Amino acid sequence: MAVIKAAILGFGTVGQGIYHILNEKREELRQKLGVELEVAKIVVRDTSRERVAGTQHLLTDNIDDVFAEPGLQVVFEAIVNEEPAYSYLKRAIENRCHVITANKVMFAKRGMELQELAKTNGVFVGYEATVAGGVPIIKTMKNILLVNDVSRIQGILNGTTNYMLTKMRQENLRYDEALAEAQNLGYAEADPFNDVSGQDAFKKLMILSDLAFDEQPDWSEVEVVGIDTLTEEDLAAAKEQGLRYRHVAEVEKDASGKIIARVAPLLVNAEHPLYPIDDVFNAVAMETNYIGTLTVTGPGAGMYPTASVMVEDYAEIIGKRAGFTVTI
Ligand code: NDP
Ligand code: HSE
Repeated sequence: MAVIKAAILGFGTVGQGIYHILNEKREELRQKLGVELEVAKIVVRDTSRERVAGTQHLLTDNIDDVFAEPGLQVVFEAIVNEEPAYSYLKRAIENRCHVITANKVMFAKRGMELQELAKTNGVFVGYEATVAGGVPIIKTMKNILLVNDVSRIQGILNGTTNYMLTKMRQENLRYDEALAEAQNLGYAEADPFNDVSGQDAFKKLMILSDLAFDEQPDWSEVEVVGIDTLTEEDLAAAKEQGLRYRHVAEVEKDASGKIIARVAPLLVNAEHPLYPIDDVFNAVAMETNYIGTLTVTGPGAGMYPTASVMVEDYAEIIGKRAGFTVTI
């Protein structure tokens, strides 16, 4: 049986999740895809720490080791920030590797460029994990766009802050206690300022804007307000009135064709579709011309939901490469 060699860049919450799922589903994936996947290298900054038993020999802090691996075909990327992630993936694509990323900071800015480069190199870019964790919003929207136009997208795109708002409301946790829980559960970014300031949701919204409208609004014109502007008193007052705060990201194309976006907390009542979306869940509503409004919801962060969609991307890519459709 053919062997596909893969590298995992980043071995924190998401990278380890990929490794666990690939191991746990090894036999099933082998049978369904007709190929064996071998993780040949794992890139981290600190190679002295074995995060998962039996992986020490795979660790490197030198990206050159990855590209020196003969027959490397797939690169999973789960590190943080635009660089060095962009340069690593560009190099991977130029080396004719398929790439699968969870890195929205990098992809919001460089996604279109990487996808163009991938086309010219005959490889695929999987980026389902960049938006809404385990919610299959990218493949759903890609399918919808085959027939429909999407005119507006509205949703909760950050799991950490939705978890925090839920715990503060339900269990009267303080802001810092709720954030610490989200960090312990692996939901928060390495720098949680990105979550609470709204920057994480903003980056995800820009990726959806690229997909739905083929362009993004001017970043400097987008108002981005985080939940760090809310006080515990604001949340208590909302609860008293039977209302809930949601952190909502929205983007639409106006009548003149201009793309307008906004990210901010929104106070919603029980009739609002985002009212019941609690815990780490995300929800994305898309307004379309034929279907009407379609909403998808599910876990928006965390090791297994995120790693799962990345392994699904891998299965889809291998299926396309072999000319068949994969049903996992
Ligand atoms: P972690 O902080 O848990 O892990 C990051 C990993 O990347 C670590 O292993 C770290 O190495 C490695 N790393 C960081 N910078 C570099 C670098 N310059 N060179 C090599 N390795 C590097 O992050 P997560 O796993 O939570 O997130 C990874 C990516 O996935 C991020 O882009 C995040 O936005 C995205 N994401 C996260 C989700 C989640 O639920 N956590 C969900 C969806 C997307 P070392 O261990 O040595 O420090
Ligand atoms: N920190 C992000 C969140 C991870 O909480 O939504 C998923 O992208």
